[in-house]
Amino acid sequence: MPGDPKTVGTLLAWARQSLDNTGTTNVAQEALWLLASALELEQHALVSRTEQAVTAEQVARAQTLVSRRMAREPLQYILGTQEFCGLDFGVTSSVLIPRPETELLVHAVLKEGGLAEGGTLVDVGTGSGCIAVTLATILEGIRILAVDCSAEALAIAKSNAVRHSVGEKIVWIEGNLLSPLRDRITLETVDVIVSNPPYIAEGEWEQLQPEVRNFEPRLALLAGQRGTEFHERLFHASKEYLVPDGLLVMEIGQGQLPLVRQAAEQAGGYTGLQTVKDEAGIERVIIARRAG
Ligand SMILES: C[S@@+](CC[C@H](N)C(=O)[O-])C[C@H]1O[C@@H](n2cnc3c(N)ncnc32)[C@H](O)[C@@H]1O
Repeated sequence: MPGDPKTVGTLLAWARQSLDNTGTTNVAQEALWLLASALELEQHALVSRTEQAVTAEQVARAQTLVSRRMAREPLQYILGTQEFCGLDFGVTSSVLIPRPETELLVHAVLKEGGLAEGGTLVDVGTGSGCIAVTLATILEGIRILAVDCSAEALAIAKSNAVRHSVGEKIVWIEGNLLSPLRDRITLETVDVIVSNPPYIAEGEWEQLQPEVRNFEPRLALLAGQRGTEFHERLFHASKEYLVPDGLLVMEIGQGQLPLVRQAAEQAGGYTGLQTVKDEAGIERVIIARRAG
């Protein structure tokens, strides 16, 4: 390592310099986060102990973490965690990193879902479990089922449920969209189906940031040619499980609203489509009510 850092301060300077020009936008803050993790110190302790000597082992740990970030691996995979709705979720490269806009799905379910004790909610494509686990920490007496086709993702989701003491409140199911519900749920008994499905169109893949394209699971991101194929399938499949007036709440991608509206019309059986915009003014959530 050039300069051979001997103190916290020189190691921090080296980390900042290494991250410069790698396309990372938040260099100073990221250097702090990575070193705090490598040195097992709180950030405030790190900046107040710049003169403290570092061991060869600490330098090696810092080097490993900084090199991973230089290769554009997302910070969240390196640090192993992401905050969502005020809760910390463990993440590995088996799951999508929860995004702030997905919190809108949670808010929409709480505001519009009318979930009362004894109700049933299904989270399709649960990934890290961020939606199901957050809702389980808030809602009492609700039956929650969470589906994903990835066994690795389900293992992470389960550990997040345990982390937030709701392990007993969620049934985890491995399978394809709503198909595994057939043996478990009576038709027309689900109050809310919520999903952040994969919605990247094939043609958009190459334009994704390297952090996303090279590290996040393709299975979690990529839909088909239109990007709305999972929404189309969910409009069709959800109809028979939802109670009359039950809700299908889905995240959608930028500019996908016309196609998603069309998919709802083609599937039929829904009334009163609502949308929610994110902070950037992008239509991000669609709420479809099952016809009564
Ligand atoms: C966009 S990620 C959402 C993860 C998480 N719910 C979130 O909002 O951060 C989509 C998830 O759907 C899962 N998935 C993809 N195809 C699926 C399928 N056919 N059936 C069930 N889950 C699927 C992926 O494994 C991934 O975990």
